[in-house]
Amino acid sequence: MPVLPISRMGAQVLRDRAVEVDLADPTLPALLSSMVETMDAAHGIGLAAPQVGVGKRVVIFFVPGARNDGVDIPVTAMLNPVIEPLGSEQAEDWEACLSVPGLTGRVPRWTAIRYTFQDLNGQTHVREAQGFHARVVQHEFDHLDGMLYPMRMTNMASLAFGDVLQAEAKARGQVIELDEEGIVPE
Ligand code: NI
Repeated sequence: MPVLPISRMGAQVLRDRAVEVDLADPTLPALLSSMVETMDAAHGIGLAAPQVGVGKRVVIFFVPGARNDGVDIPVTAMLNPVIEPLGSEQAEDWEACLSVPGLTGRVPRWTAIRYTFQDLNGQTHVREAQGFHARVVQHEFDHLDGMLYPMRMTNMASLAFGDVLQAEAKARGQVIELDEEGIVPE
């Protein structure tokens, strides 16, 4: 399966609402395996189908244990996901996006969510998530509704090029760790 080109901010497919997928859609297995390859090649931890030019409600993601209290969430493919917040608490943290390369900014998200999705076999899964896990799912889900993280920011003052933040921190004798999702929290 090929590595696919990643759509960048401005592309219409990233603005449109993606459509529900039919589990019998014969293109789904090939789409999912291409998405996994594309995500790996870009060192991402999540990818939504609109980011590879496909306007369908399909998302893949994983969460490394180091950012989830030691619990690895393996690569998960979600079809037609639905999210509901658990409680009203939100928190801000750094995010970045393969469709907005180079930039990073602080984004408020629900701290705890319940999410529901179907897998390729038609099975429905219901999970609860907190913290970074909840953040990744909300970020990827937003791609299905035409939302990119800068549209969620309430204070644009933190929007920055990651390498500039890193270089200035280095000049001050500090270290900022960056990954594809933005600044790695301490
Ligand atoms: Ni993104």
